[in-house]
This record gives sequence, C-alpha cells and structure tokens, in this order.
Amino acid sequence: MALLIEEGGVNNIMEYGDEVSPEEALEYYIKAGRIAYRVLNETIRLVKPGIRVLELCEFSERKIKEYGGKPAFPTNISINNVAAHYTSPIGDNTIVPEDGVVKVDIGVQVNGFIADIAKTVTLNPNYEDMVEAVEAALENALTIAKPGIRISELSKVIEETIKRYGYKPIRNLSGHEVKRYSLHAGTSIPNVKTFSLEKLKPWHTYAIEPFATNGAGYVRDSKEIYIYSLRKVRKPQSKIEEKIISKVKSEYKWLPFSERWLTELAEPNTLRKTLKSLTRRGILQGYPVLIEGLNGIVVQAEHTILVTDKDIIVITKP
Ligand code: CO
Repeated sequence: MALLIEEGGVNNIMEYGDEVSPEEALEYYIKAGRIAYRVLNETIRLVKPGIRVLELCEFSERKIKEYGGKPAFPTNISINNVAAHYTSPIGDNTIVPEDGVVKVDIGVQVNGFIADIAKTVTLNPNYEDMVEAVEAALENALTIAKPGIRISELSKVIEETIKRYGYKPIRNLSGHEVKRYSLHAGTSIPNVKTFSLEKLKPWHTYAIEPFATNGAGYVRDSKEIYIYSLRKVRKPQSKIEEKIISKVKSEYKWLPFSERWLTELAEPNTLRKTLKSLTRRGILQGYPVLIEGLNGIVVQAEHTILVTDKDIIVITKP
C-alpha cells in the first residue's frame, strides 16, 4: 500500500509487550511474505469482468487468516484511474468492469512483521505494455538493491525504466520502509529521482512500489475515505467511540483498517459518522482514495525486501 508523499511516514511509539529475536523476526517476515505471495496470486485468478470488488477484498483477507497471518491493511483493489487506497466499504456493489485495469495490493502481518505486495491485472490488452513497464521498473530496482545503496539510485532506475516505455511515474506516491506494526515507517522510496542521500540499511525492511500512468504523473485525494488508522489515543467522547478505539488499539494497533472490520460495533451509518468525526479530530488518520491527476490509467507493482548484511531477501517472492 503506497505512501502519499505529502502525508509523510509515521514513527509510532508503542509497547508491543513481547521481545522478538532477530532470528524470529526473520522467520515472521518470511512467513508473512509467503502468505502474501500466495494470496495475491489466488486473488488475481478471480479478477474477471463482473466480479464484485467486495468479494475480492473479503476473499483475500479471509485467505490471509486461513494461511496463518493477519491482514496488515485492508486489501486495496484500485481500478483504472483510481491509483490506490480503494477498499470496499460495507455493502459495496462496485464490480470489475469489462476493460478494467485492476491493481491488487495485499498486506500480511505475522506478529506485526509486514509483507506488502501488489500486481496489476489488465483486462484491456492496450495497457499490457504499461504493466510490463512497471514490472520491469520493479525488477530493475530489485536487481540493484543492496545494503548501502542510495535510495535515489533505486528511484532513478524506476523513473528511467517507466519513461523508456513512454509512460510517467507517479511522483507523489512512493514505496516505504516498514517496521513492526508500522506500515509507513519514515523512510520513503520515491518513484522519481530525488536528491536524498539516504541509503538502504542492513536489517531494515522496505516495500518498493512503482506506479506508472499515461496521465499527469501525480495523484490527488478524492472525497471518499474507506481506510483509516489510529493516530493518537485520546479520551473517547461516546460509548461507540470507546468501542472503536479499544478494538483498533488491541487488534490493528497502528495499522490501517477498514470500516468492514468494525461492523459488529455499530450499524453502518453510525459507524461511518463516528469514523469521520474521529478523523476530523486527528485521532484517526484517513487514507482518501487517490485518483490520477488527469484521470489517466494507473498501474502498479510491488515487492517487500529485507536488507541483510550483504544482500537482500525479497520476502514476497517464493
Ligand atoms: Co506498500
């Protein structure tokens, strides 16, 4: 799930209650990655014209649990000019259109250790080379990724690859570091070259996720918000607020969640109104659905890497 650059990463301080050795952390990362890869591929097989987006979201989130993980964020199914951060709201009737360009972005966590993976299915053959561009950009970045390399080198390779195919990288969406229970953890990996001197650090984990478009090359917020995360814990002002905050705190911690995951707490209208109010007051962060600046078609590819002492492990590849 992409980081919108102007939003910035968040470094949350939280008591996790249990210590984990580096060996265990590695094991959890590998397990999360394996589940993410498997569920992404099973979900992609279902992407056909007419299938409900809600079914894709629920199927993938259910499979993650079945295979022994938890969703690290609600499955994002973003279609055509929708670049990112779309997950089905409660009762969503949206279906995959005949010619849809469908981005499936899945997150898995095992004990808080996160694997983030995405792929684009195009039902319209005209966009196959755009998908190829973004996949090549990701592969080229993975090929040069190693401890100590400048992040701007990765950004440069991504930008150049996408441009070589005749498309634009999306400049305000980026890859991101992940930390335990923290999806957008500080360091970002932009899809266009920057002057940052930051480097990939050993034993840090990063999601690399190029986005390409035939549109303007940036995204803007829409008014729709279906994904939230806890930002700061404040005293609740009602019983329902108390129930929401307490469930999010214990089950999702600082990770993004969907209104679909809270349906037992209130009926949909009350739930939505309360989530909006908590967002307005800064207690929750909302992730608006992101739309391409000129309504261009958007494609995406993503893998998560764990940087080791001398190399990298792509945890989302088998
Ligand atoms: Co991501």
